[in-house]
Amino acid sequence: MAWKSFSPGHSMCFAFLLYLGCLFASAAEIGKKVELRANRENLKLSEASLKPQQIHISLGDTATDMTIMWATRAHDISVVEYHTGDRQKAVKVEGETMKLETTNEDGAKYLHRVCLKGLQSQVKYYYNVHGESMDTLSDQFSFTMPPVMAGNTHSFMVYGDLGTETHNIQFLLQEALNEKYEAVFHIGDIAYDLNRGQGQIGDKFLQKIEKVAARTPYMTVPGDHERYDEFLHYRYRFSMPNLPWPMPSDNLWYSLDVGPIHFVLYSTEVFFYDEVNIEKMLVWLKADLDKANTQRSARPWIIAMGHRPMYCSVDNFHEDCKRDHSIVRTSLEDVFYAEGVDLIISGHEHYYERTWPVYNKKAVQYNYREPAAPIHITIGTLGSVYMTDKSTNVGGQWSAFVLSETGKESFGRLKVFNATHLHWEVRECSNNKLVDQIWIIQPYHRPFNLPRVFIPNPLGEMGEKWLENENSLGLESFLGLSGSHYGDDYQTKLTVLCSVFVICLLGLMLRKKVLGFIRLCCLKQEPCNKLKSAVHNNVGANV
Ligand SMILES: *[C@@H]1O[C@H](CO)[C@@H](O)[C@H](O)[C@H]1NC(C)=O
Repeated sequence: MAWKSFSPGHSMCFAFLLYLGCLFASAAEIGKKVELRANRENLKLSEASLKPQQIHISLGDTATDMTIMWATRAHDISVVEYHTGDRQKAVKVEGETMKLETTNEDGAKYLHRVCLKGLQSQVKYYYNVHGESMDTLSDQFSFTMPPVMAGNTHSFMVYGDLGTETHNIQFLLQEALNEKYEAVFHIGDIAYDLNRGQGQIGDKFLQKIEKVAARTPYMTVPGDHERYDEFLHYRYRFSMPNLPWPMPSDNLWYSLDVGPIHFVLYSTEVFFYDEVNIEKMLVWLKADLDKANTQRSARPWIIAMGHRPMYCSVDNFHEDCKRDHSIVRTSLEDVFYAEGVDLIISGHEHYYERTWPVYNKKAVQYNYREPAAPIHITIGTLGSVYMTDKSTNVGGQWSAFVLSETGKESFGRLKVFNATHLHWEVRECSNNKLVDQIWIIQPYHRPFNLPRVFIPNPLGEMGEKWLENENSLGLESFLGLSGSHYGDDYQTKLTVLCSVFVICLLGLMLRKKVLGFIRLCCLKQEPCNKLKSAVHNNVGANV
């Protein structure tokens, strides 16, 4: 009966179900295969997107720190492994990962930062970076910590306005590696622009400079081309000393010490873009420079860098530096003069210019021996591929040298030999030819509104501290025996040495009397008693 009731209709239905079942099964099979293949591809894709790129380093908060940064396309943790030559002894440090929101599909929007601490001066460190998986391990790079002891020459590469299209980027990179600069200073207008193509240009630029920036600290200030979206890309892609990261948009300025130099890096964009921060930056500048001046015997040189210059000889009258009442100049010149800033270096104008020591639009002298005012340098020639700033007439008697030829890309080389001698030179990129050079010789680093010869505080900085709080500093540090860093106070030591000398001299001169007195009173009691009784008798006689 059951069989009977199984009609052809039923059997067709059954066959159909069977067919459907098979279909599902094979579809699931195919699906699995597709899924597997997709997984494999994803894995490959994620390996590529986890690969660290754009590795670059910058000087950290103190002379013993170094900051390492890189980018990845996908999210990952941030790890640096470093050692001094023996890989077995590598130290592992984990840092932070931040996401930079860009809409660019292929963009490396995950940014990584790791701060290495407690490094030793003049030691070469090797490092690799990676994420969660060791498959993401980067190539090995190395850097050498700048020296802190006196007696070393410090050299730096300086330029502004380098983008991705500069003709001589390969030369610049080779030069930076050959010369073993302690740092590269890129004074604003970094990539034209970091944010362009939703970050593609930023990625491209940082990838291009990796060869140098992964080995030489790459120090920056913001220029007008970094302004996009409150400096978004600049704040995430770089990390400068003594600033949080991402760098806060209302605090894109900092200072750092290298050997005998105090560098001050300020933002000129506050004057044109976010005026609400002008006051904040000026207050910081004054405080920072006041402090730098209390340590002038340890760090005599003060060098300031900001994107836009305050003096220029370009033809374009719309430029701020060309105006009678330049905002940058009227806001900063008095501070820099009063604080005795030795050198001010800028970019922005795509040409090269050097001034005499100048204050209030007047050259105070026509040489660089014991300058009595700051010297200004503008080195923006690398941007001439985008546009050359023409200069057919010098801007004033303060102008000492101008180079504004199309296609003449050049860079600056800054060398500080010791407390008194600084050498600045500019070289052409296409042939490494010397274009310009000066020696700045300054034996009297001081606020320029003070007289040239002044009486130094005889106790010095360390002596003052010692007086203030005896517990915090032992005699050892007072005498500077605890290490001969630049922190040693010359005046304090001089005072101590002079005092010791005077005491010895007095002892030598009075030795006969002192010895005689000792013999008189202690060895031979008799004359001593006689002396006493004589005094007694005298007193008695008088009464
Ligand atoms: C400083 O360096 C310059 C250039 O090398 C040198 O001529 C000068 O003697 C040095 N001065 C001191 C005090 O060492």
